[in-house]
Parts: sequence; structure tokens; C-alpha cells
Amino acid sequence: MEKNKAPLLSMNDVSVSYGHVSALKNASLEVYEGEIVVLIGANGAGKTTILETVLGIYKPSSGDIVFLGESIKNNTADKNVRRGMFLVPEGRGVFPSMTVTDNLLLGAHHDLRDSDKKLKLVYDAFPILGQRKSQTAGTLSGGERQMLAIGRALMSSPKFIMIDEPSIGLAP
Ligand SMILES: Nc1ncnc2c1ncn2[C@@H]1O[C@H](COP(=O)(O)OP(=O)(O)OP(=O)(O)O)[C@@H](O)[C@H]1O
Ligand SMILES: [Mg+2]
Repeated sequence: MEKNKAPLLSMNDVSVSYGHVSALKNASLEVYEGEIVVLIGANGAGKTTILETVLGIYKPSSGDIVFLGESIKNNTADKNVRRGMFLVPEGRGVFPSMTVTDNLLLGAHHDLRDSDKKLKLVYDAFPILGQRKSQTAGTLSGGERQMLAIGRALMSSPKFIMIDEPSIGLAP
């Protein structure tokens, strides 16, 4: 990580409300290339809200979010995904009636070039997914579904991945 470079992502004084419920007040953080940043906090502290706001699901009521040198606070989530961001959501969000391979391909839907190469990278990282590739995701164990959700994120060749509750259901 090179801190003399600009951060990959910065969040400056961001506040978010759900209607009248204030969920986040003046939150700031920076993430540099090559860095792993961990958010730790009590239930309801606002961790998921931070990730979903960065992705573009919620709009900040104040403050700014900058990704790759540009303000993204008014971007939609799909625009942010096309620019290299991906969220592995709490609860995984895999599609149970679709096969493992089809779930993975969804992660690359905005650019299906080299998808065989990307699939191979995921199957190398998570061999169990390779063995189960034609199986529907609903028949995977909880930890295998978490691997699938992370694999789907890798399929988008992201510059920046956010993982909500990354270790749930996974062996060390
Ligand atoms: N859709 C919503 N509508 C109203 N309030 C919400 C909504 N989603 C979250 N909140 C509230 O916003 C606050 C932050 O919630 P958030 O889900 O970001 O917490 P968290 O840190 O991810 O918690 P956990 O560790 O339980 O996952 C909480 O007080 C929560 O009740
Ligand atoms: Mg949460």
C-alpha cells in the first residue's frame, strides 16, 4: 500500500438516515490500494449501512464519497459495479435455483470476456465449487454458499471488494 498516493476510496463526513432514523453520523474512512480495512462495531452500529451507501444503494444526506478520484455519492450501484466495486452482502444473496456456474457468471455479467479464465481462478481458489459447478446453489452448505458469494465478487475482476460479515459459516 502506498499512502503517498490518493486513496482508492474515501468517505468524508457521511451521514445517512432511513426516513427519520439516523443510521450514520459524520462517518469518515479511507481505503488505499492493497489495503485490507476491517469495520468492527456493535449490532446496529452502522457497518452494513456504510457498505451499502458506498455501493450506491443509499444516498448520503451529507458528506461525500470519492472512488478512483471521482465523487460517487450520486452514482447508482450498477455504475459503481461497472467502475470496479463489488459488495458481498450480509446473507450472501446467491440465487438458490441457479447452478453454481450461473451464479458465478452473474458476477461477470457486465463483461463476459474471459469468463472461462475467471471461472478457473474461482475454482482454483475454492475447489469445492469446481466439484459442485452444475449443482444448484440451494443445495450447497452455508459455508459453501459464502465461498460462492465471494467467488461471484471475484468474477467481476473488482478493484475494490466489500464483504459484509465475511467469516460467517466459514471454517478458518
Ligand atoms: N431499512 C432500514 N430502515 C430503518 N432503519 C434501518 C434500516 N436498516 C438499518 N436500520 C437501522 O440503522 C442502524 C444501522 O444498521 P446497520 O444494519 O447498518 O448496522 P450493522 O452495524 O450492520 O449491524 P449488525 O452487526 O447487526 O449487522 C440500526 O439502528 C438499524 O436498526
Ligand atoms: Mg450488518
